[in-house]
Amino acid sequence: MPDQNVKELTTDDAPIKARGLEGVIALESELSSIDGQEGKLIYRGYDINDLAEGASFEEVVYLLSNGELPTRDQLDDLRQQLRSERTLPTPVMEFLRNIPDDAHPMAVLQTVVSALGLYDDEANAMDEASNRRKAVRILAQIPAIIAAFDRLRKGLEPIPPLEDGSMAHNFLYMLNGEEPGEAAERTFDVCLVLHADHGLNASTFTNRVIGSTMSDMYSAIPGAVGALKGPLHGGANREVMRMLLEIDEQGADPAKYVREKLAAGERVMGFGHRVYRTMDPRAAILRDMVQELSEKEGAMKWYEYSMAILETMRDEKGIDPNVDFFSASTYYQLGIDPDLFTPIFALSRTAGWTAHLFEQWADNRLIRPRAEYVGKRDRTFVPIDQR
Ligand code: ACO
Repeated sequence: MPDQNVKELTTDDAPIKARGLEGVIALESELSSIDGQEGKLIYRGYDINDLAEGASFEEVVYLLSNGELPTRDQLDDLRQQLRSERTLPTPVMEFLRNIPDDAHPMAVLQTVVSALGLYDDEANAMDEASNRRKAVRILAQIPAIIAAFDRLRKGLEPIPPLEDGSMAHNFLYMLNGEEPGEAAERTFDVCLVLHADHGLNASTFTNRVIGSTMSDMYSAIPGAVGALKGPLHGGANREVMRMLLEIDEQGADPAKYVREKLAAGERVMGFGHRVYRTMDPRAAILRDMVQELSEKEGAMKWYEYSMAILETMRDEKGIDPNVDFFSASTYYQLGIDPDLFTPIFALSRTAGWTAHLFEQWADNRLIRPRAEYVGKRDRTFVPIDQR
């Protein structure tokens, strides 16, 4: 049901000013909804807790792009399509071999997803069937990009994808060179489920702005990757791990560390959100997963540092953690390098980004807000040799 409190602005004659577009509704979406007061998140009407508990990432991919959970046949079909597109085009793999080892993994992902379009005959086709095939192709190839880059920069050969197994299983295999255990695969799969969509966040908005110009998927997805890279958005998960590692290396007291950061006017990464006024439900699920992983490994320090930081942030600022806070130690305990955390976020969010493009194109309207001009006016032009 549409929100009764929303006042519709139907004319350009009475512009509204909202810095950062805070509180502005730019479009309608059936994909996901956040209740910031209650700390609830739904995808297509299903509670995130239920999906994290019972659905695989591939089921969520299907749900987001089709509106319904798949039957077993529909799921098998999607899984088969994804598997058949896992291998990167040869020139793209050659390109990856020439990328500097110290490149930012998000810059690599952005560039290489864009490059994929150069080798896709359907890159510029805008009919729905082509776009659906491209959505599967891009989603299937992102794990191969991340894994190949990581191995190449470590002096290792990229590992060809498996012909079977889930996306989570195959990604961890291509990254580590060995098939993951059931627990690691399930943990990673839940992380993918949790990050798949999240309303009109900055990267999804970027993606829809690009889509609204009727530009193609290979333009919109790299644009979204660029937006996700920033530390105020997806880049925060890497910064959280940097903080936890620094606390560990310095043997610092986490509460004191955080208080000093706040006293210096710095932000603590992984806390705060534009929409949530309480704990992000994804953070709660991830917190429990970190606890479980830590207990299993008999190494509680990341969980303990995180909980001490959480308590301090609540006491000092009354701010709760967002999804990036506990995903950091989850990925770290799965043995993943911190600078791959944000690319993994992008892997999952590609499900949401592509579904948002279908929604945008089904009823497109160019997204084009305005700026309030606060610059100078009525200046007299002076020719260059008189300046
Ligand atoms: N650490 C310290 N203080 C914070 C934090 C934080 N992480 N987040 C918000 N605050 C404070 C602000 O200083 C401000 O306080 P003030 O009113 O005393 O000045 C108040 O909370 C409100 O903050 P805003 O910046 O107005 O909130 P906004 O909606 O613009 O910011 C944002 C949201 C960017 C996410 C912010 O909370 C932040 O910078 N967090 C850290 C980065 C982060 O974790 N990003 C990931 C977000 S989730 C995601 O994108 C996947």
